[in-house]
Amino acid sequence: MHLHRFEKIWLMVGGATLVLFLVVLSVNAYAMGMMPPSHMKMIDPNKVDETAPFDNPGLHETGENEYDLVMSSMVFAFQPNQVEVPVGAKVKFIVTSKDVVHGFQIPKTNVNIMVLPGHISEVTHTFDEPGTYLIICNEYCGSGHQIMAATIIVK
Ligand code: CUA
Repeated sequence: MHLHRFEKIWLMVGGATLVLFLVVLSVNAYAMGMMPPSHMKMIDPNKVDETAPFDNPGLHETGENEYDLVMSSMVFAFQPNQVEVPVGAKVKFIVTSKDVVHGFQIPKTNVNIMVLPGHISEVTHTFDEPGTYLIICNEYCGSGHQIMAATIIVK
């Protein structure tokens, strides 16, 4: 097969870029131990209710207008399903799933994570504006997926 010189150069550049990309990725993943910001803690998905902190779900004050909100998700609900916080509250959501993969998104904020059984996901958000915020599941999880939601009331 005859390849034009420029074509060979182009293929080599493409191949080298791919190898470089994989090397950077591998160094990050294995040597530097980089992982996604959530899902770093594990839990037995069959014992969520007995395992801390999920044995005591809900809102817990941890500092001045700072809270941990411990939530579990299941088909087709979040628990607790309505929470009130003051304006300016910094809320760390600590979430796990009791069954299948769920989504956890709060529209109009940067909160958008996956909730996997066996993993504990954490995400923090500061609610500077009063209002009613919906938490929705954005991973298809079954026949009741579209009704899976919870509410955060900020006032
Ligand atoms: Cu839970 Cu969709």
